[in-house]
Amino acid sequence: MNSFASRIIRWQQQHGRHALPWQASRDPYRIWLSEIMLQQTQVATVIPYFERFVARFPDLPALAAAHEDAVLALWSGLGYYSRARNLHAAARAIVSRHNGNFPASVTAITQLPGVGRSTASAIAALAFGQRCAILDGNVKRVLARHGGITGWPGDKKVETALWQLAESHLPRTALEAYTQGMMDLGALVCTRSRPACNACPVNADCIAYTQHRTTELPAPRPKKALPEKQVQMLLLLDRGELMLEKRPAQGIWGGLWSLPELAFEADPASHCRDHFGHVALTQQVMPQLTHSFTHFKLHIRPVQLQLAPRRSTPAGQIWLPLSSALDAALPAPIRTLVKQLASH
Ligand code: ADE
Repeated sequence: MNSFASRIIRWQQQHGRHALPWQASRDPYRIWLSEIMLQQTQVATVIPYFERFVARFPDLPALAAAHEDAVLALWSGLGYYSRARNLHAAARAIVSRHNGNFPASVTAITQLPGVGRSTASAIAALAFGQRCAILDGNVKRVLARHGGITGWPGDKKVETALWQLAESHLPRTALEAYTQGMMDLGALVCTRSRPACNACPVNADCIAYTQHRTTELPAPRPKKALPEKQVQMLLLLDRGELMLEKRPAQGIWGGLWSLPELAFEADPASHCRDHFGHVALTQQVMPQLTHSFTHFKLHIRPVQLQLAPRRSTPAGQIWLPLSSALDAALPAPIRTLVKQLASH
């Protein structure tokens, strides 16, 4: 039997993905950007965001020179916004530390904000052909099944075993095809449910396949109920304009434009008067909305308030017509609410 790596490489050349927009060149800037966007996000979702991003910021100096708000606006809807802030910070670090040249060593790439070991290795392998192993969620699944590794891959011991396995399989050459092949196999064949084992180039010695254990490998995360939080969010309207507030840079939705929040039990009209000095003329509760973060679930009760004409606008707030509000860097559930309001 050919080695694991040579079967993966051959399969990638025949059946893998070759037309993704970031594969058109070996430009490390584009490969880096795509790898960051592809963290926790599927290829089909990423493609239009990637295209808009490189149209606006075609190279690293353009991104480094950008205003953070412009970067966040292009990220709006993709989620996990710390990725965008780190990307921007990393572009500036590359300009100041590396004269604007993308670093080619895994060690230097790992030191960039927002880049962990697997992402750094993916960039080094795909852009510079370096011999280093990746281990994202898809690759963990492929290796756990093929090597029969039990235990949840998020567990430190299991993860260490998977890294060792990943390194042991590395080929001497063709690192680009091998790395892309591992990603493609995980995404297209060795899927979480109903994997297409008949189409797999490494099924002959796959422990999960040969022992009929693909449904039990890899082991799922031990169950733990997510904490839930409830808030009210205010849609303050004055003569067709909506009030948005900038979120603090740190924490959930950092740096994005959002709606004023208040405790679930608080009275919206009193809050509006006491905190903003605005008089509410009418109040309407909109249907509740739930948004899941990695660590908790947020239940939002949106309340729409029509205000008497305002007199002033404090710092950190803006008033925008609904159509312009949709161009701002909004978190996904806030965008949903503004769209609902705009369509009425
Ligand atoms: N997921 C993460 N990186 C990827 C890549 N380069 N191609 C396809 N899917 C990916």
